[in-house]
Amino acid sequence: MKKSFGIIGSGNIGQTVARHLVKGGYAVIMSNGRGPDAVKEIVKSIGGGATAGSVKDAANADVVLLSLPWSQVSSLTAVADWKNKIVIDATNHFITYAPDFQVADLQGKSSSQVVAEQLPGARIVKAFNTLYFKTLAQNPNQSGGKRVLFISGDDASAKSEVGEVIKALGFAVVDLGDLSNGSKLQQAKGPLATLNLIQL
Ligand SMILES: NC(=O)c1ccc[n+]([C@@H]2O[C@H](COP(=O)([O-])OP(=O)(O)OC[C@H]3O[C@@H](n4cnc5c(N)ncnc54)[C@H](OP(=O)(O)O)[C@@H]3O)[C@@H](O)[C@H]2O)c1
Repeated sequence: MKKSFGIIGSGNIGQTVARHLVKGGYAVIMSNGRGPDAVKEIVKSIGGGATAGSVKDAANADVVLLSLPWSQVSSLTAVADWKNKIVIDATNHFITYAPDFQVADLQGKSSSQVVAEQLPGARIVKAFNTLYFKTLAQNPNQSGGKRVLFISGDDASAKSEVGEVIKALGFAVVDLGDLSNGSKLQQAKGPLATLNLIQL
């Protein structure tokens, strides 16, 4: 049976990834900060295998996608037992948005390492954070090739599992390594952030 995905944050990026997952035949539980009723219309528009849930419901799915503001991840610490849970971190560590897009001072860590500290025991895989959501929403098959998504993480099996799902959605996957080095390449202001690549 295919794994279920809990989406925490049902805005631009959460909905975009959810649509790809539903198209790929996965069940998704959509949640936001205001409870299941507030995501009902979103769920209806996604259709297929999407259902509305609380943040706790989403956190209890097989795989969790973090698609909420980075500054809000700390609110999730006590929501679930994160030990061994595969968590895809699609957040970027912005503390202000347009026009200045300032990022948090991470004291030398990657933004996903800070996320990992906030979700003790979670197997974090950074993915889906580099592309503008309208670009990510497009068909990954482009110009005879596949749109590239980057992944990084410290847990090899979690990274491999997430990589296989992303490939099944039609993307090409480039593994950047661990959370310390790889995530810094793909996180906001890193050299690979916003790069829209097609693997031919
Ligand atoms: N937009 C992009 O193109 C893009 C691309 C890559 C990565 N990202 C990253 O993805 C994340 C989300 O960005 P977005 O553009 O999708 O934002 P968004 O459209 O503003 O959506 C944010 C979502 O997070 C929810 N949320 C906020 N606080 C929450 C909490 N404490 N618990 C549960 N849910 C909460 C919001 O729900 P409420 O409405 O209830 O507050 C909303 O559903 C950010 O970290 C961003 O940097 C964005």
